[in-house]
Amino acid sequence: MTSPLTHRFPYPTGSDGIRRLGYGADYNPEQWPREVWEEDVRLMREAGVNVVSLAIFSWARIQPTAETWDFEWLDEVMDLLHAGGIGVDLATATASPPPWLTTAHPEILPVTATGETLWPGARQHWRPTSPIFREHALHLVRKLATRYADHPALVAWHVSNELGCHNIYDYSDDAALAFREWLRRRYTTLDAFNHAWGTDFWSQRYSDWDQILPPRLAASHPNPTQQLDFKRFSSDALKNHLLAEREILSEITPAVPVTTNFMVMSGIKGMDYADWASSVDFVSNDHYTVSGPRSRDELSFCANLTSGLASHRPWFLMEHSTSAVNWQTVNLAKGPGELVRDSLLHVAHGADAVCFFQWRQSAAGAEKYHSAMVPHAGPDSELFRDVVALGRTLEALAPLAGSQREAARVAILFDWDSWWSSEHDSHPTSLLDYHREALDWYSALMDLGIRADVIPKLGTDLASYDVVIAPVLHVVAESLAKDLTRYVEGGGHLVTTYFSGIVDENDHVWLGGYPGALRDLLGIRIEEFGPLLDGDTVDLDNAATGSLWTDRISVAGTDVEVLARYRSGTYASRPAVTRRTTGQGSAAYVSTRLGVDGLAALLPQLLLPSGVTSDLPEQSRGVIEQVVRCDSESRYLFLVNRSDVSVPVPGLTGQVLVGLPGAEGLVLPPGEVAVLQQPTPQDTVPRTERAG
Ligand code: GAL
Repeated sequence: MTSPLTHRFPYPTGSDGIRRLGYGADYNPEQWPREVWEEDVRLMREAGVNVVSLAIFSWARIQPTAETWDFEWLDEVMDLLHAGGIGVDLATATASPPPWLTTAHPEILPVTATGETLWPGARQHWRPTSPIFREHALHLVRKLATRYADHPALVAWHVSNELGCHNIYDYSDDAALAFREWLRRRYTTLDAFNHAWGTDFWSQRYSDWDQILPPRLAASHPNPTQQLDFKRFSSDALKNHLLAEREILSEITPAVPVTTNFMVMSGIKGMDYADWASSVDFVSNDHYTVSGPRSRDELSFCANLTSGLASHRPWFLMEHSTSAVNWQTVNLAKGPGELVRDSLLHVAHGADAVCFFQWRQSAAGAEKYHSAMVPHAGPDSELFRDVVALGRTLEALAPLAGSQREAARVAILFDWDSWWSSEHDSHPTSLLDYHREALDWYSALMDLGIRADVIPKLGTDLASYDVVIAPVLHVVAESLAKDLTRYVEGGGHLVTTYFSGIVDENDHVWLGGYPGALRDLLGIRIEEFGPLLDGDTVDLDNAATGSLWTDRISVAGTDVEVLARYRSGTYASRPAVTRRTTGQGSAAYVSTRLGVDGLAALLPQLLLPSGVTSDLPEQSRGVIEQVVRCDSESRYLFLVNRSDVSVPVPGLTGQVLVGLPGAEGLVLPPGEVAVLQQPTPQDTVPRTERAG
């Protein structure tokens, strides 16, 4: 991250003046008649709601025409919420431009790689690089900020909404102009630029900056560095929009913290949030589970990474769902207990606010079948009773507000450049899934009862971790190779995988044999990749099965142990998993995709030199996910039952904040969460205090 977060978090306080966890939703009162608003506030109070995000899609209501403004309805909603003791995370309303604007200025609409315009009719139909859009959006932001600067309900600013959800890649002429500017700043000279893009390949040498284009639909594979730089640029273009709105908000209301909702979840990869995190006063995230195996692990992984992005300070869960969403092939309702479990799992990983999309389920529009806190059935419903119960549970957890997640000994390194670049076209395989590989390592560790932090590569100090797992660390600049070498020599244990260390920051291959930048550190040399066809597998001599990838590995020195060899396939009898012991630490390499079970079987051996083992009792390993938050007085132990059966957890001490103590100790029903408060041992210091 570019600089440390200021971290200003909008904690609600109770009538006792003590801070609480935030609880609430996106609130879209403009979809409802006036008389519903009072009922909304009454029900919000009943549910314990203390914060809502307002005006996210209200531009057309606030500014019905270019010259007219209507704030009266919003004044009234703000006043009503304030009277109800509910804080407002006020959106800047710029997420969806109104029809009058797109009619007058169709040149603000995004354009796809094939030259098609994305027309109005849905939302987020704007180009991040359009000067006209920027001007209108900032005008609106200034008006809003000026009007509500002193409103007592205002607790935070919510810039736009999910920047980049639908408009991350725009290939318009505005984008082309801004891309050229971005490239000029990055490379300064055309020569440096031509070198970085490797333009002597396929006669792509540029003699003028104006010849450069975004990677629009081309006759064949577009230049890979052009693709990588366009991804970096697109992320930056949206971040610039965030900063432009932020500048106005900070000028008018310097005391009000600013955020924007990130989307750290599977399937969203366009925004480099490690780079964005220093642009907000507190990190917010939206997370939706996608039905399928290990979806709970995926939630945990994303919440964990969000904590990493927030430098392990508390963050704000801005959106998740009370039950079904509307955008999957089949939209399953959540089962009993899932609403609470999902919410508390986020809290375990540092969320100090739990909010939903949305407060009241819409009667019209594209999201009318998306669940909400008040469903179509109304407040006399099981769902609303669950919502009220969750409010009580979060109230009971008020003491942990402000505490931080206790550091794990193992880290999984997550890197947007490697994610983007490793999945490009014209590679040894198109089947590589960066996110899946990282998640598999996380699940395997959890299956062994071992906690890990998921941390962004950018700006993280690795030294505090005993083990760093860097799956598919494809892009390794010289400086990173040096950092990793220093880490290992100083006693760290690095584990990396296939297709790591291959290219530099310009996506140029490190020559002399793979894994290029990490070759010396790992003590191996690979002459050729051996990707596998979809469905093909290879056997290893440790009873594991590999898929997706194999490598033709030669071991370079006597300090390298072969932990497993291929038993079948093209590289039968060659090394498949290696470890070099060097300095005070070690560097291990896993050359194939082992999947969760294969990794869980291999991990004890990989972790051996570090001495890392599970800190859970034998019978709880794999069954319980344990996360600890702590402050100088208390530790908050979160225990999540990952299995489908009830699990006894004997021998625990402390005050039960959530969960049912039985005669024999705590019993955790399937999928449920317990939270215990224990005194913090004298020698434990929360990690940001430790870091100074
Ligand atoms: C988010 C968005 C919300 C709503 C929600 C539905 O992407 O911010 O406005 O659309 O998804 O799941």
